[in-house]
Amino acid sequence: MSVLEVIDLHVSVETEQGTKQILNGVDLIVNEGEIHAIMGPNGSGKSTLAYTIAGHPKYHVESGSVTLDGQDLLAMPVDARARAGLFLAMQYPVEIPGVAVTNFLRTAKTAIDGAQPPIRTWTKEVTEAMKNLRMDASFKDRNVNEGFSGGEKKRHEILQLELLKPKFAILDETDSGLDVDALKIVSEGVNRAKENTGLGLLLITHYTRILRYITPDYVHVFVDGRVAEEGGAELADRLENEGYDRFLAPASLG
Ligand SMILES: Nc1ncnc2c1ncn2[C@@H]1O[C@H](COP(=O)(O)OP(=O)(O)OP(=O)(O)O)[C@@H](O)[C@H]1O
Ligand SMILES: [Mg+2]
Repeated sequence: MSVLEVIDLHVSVETEQGTKQILNGVDLIVNEGEIHAIMGPNGSGKSTLAYTIAGHPKYHVESGSVTLDGQDLLAMPVDARARAGLFLAMQYPVEIPGVAVTNFLRTAKTAIDGAQPPIRTWTKEVTEAMKNLRMDASFKDRNVNEGFSGGEKKRHEILQLELLKPKFAILDETDSGLDVDALKIVSEGVNRAKENTGLGLLLITHYTRILRYITPDYVHVFVDGRVAEEGGAELADRLENEGYDRFLAPASLG
């Protein structure tokens, strides 16, 4: 049984105004096969948590730990984290000019598995996955994310998720900017990945609509760089109705 454990994580970032503390003691345990939704106000540190786990160099870990099956993820370079089974779908996927989708996917798969995927089955798998995500075959030859619409970028993230088969995936607002059909298609992709590989999911979102397709086992409310409350799927509905007022200090309310 695989487990991703975040324990008392404190993270800061260097800014022109000095060191800024962003995460203030995050505790989170995600077991294989579990879906954890993270909701919380803008600027509460959700993306910072995602980037820190994935290994973005900008974020400085002051204290605490992140382990995957007991292995210290924070001690690993980014590529080793991916090989250990971690996947991040970014809130704002980056363009990679000059790198075609098909090359990108094969290179990533080879790097993660440590061997080239067998060409015939791989091509079939890519074609099939793209079809399932309603991505036109012409995307294979386009440069990664270059000129992709917002929704197309998100589908490309889920395409990677399905093909790379990580143990744990962090999806940072993968639902934002998707039209109703795309939301369903992307959610189905995530559910397929979960069924096929039993992956654990950290789903960062502002909206309950994706949670109607991807049912969370747990919902965590993120406020001021830590988990302020935890509950089941019903907590998401409560947040949508009530907002975050009861978690915020009176001074920060308008
Ligand atoms: N490089 C940086 N310099 C200054 N402040 C930063 C930097 N990176 C992050 N922050 C600040 O850290 C806080 C947390 O940002 P983060 O992106 O993690 O929030 P979030 O919860 O993902 O918000 P959203 O819901 O809007 O995506 C914000 O106040 C942000 O301005
Ligand atoms: Mg964010």
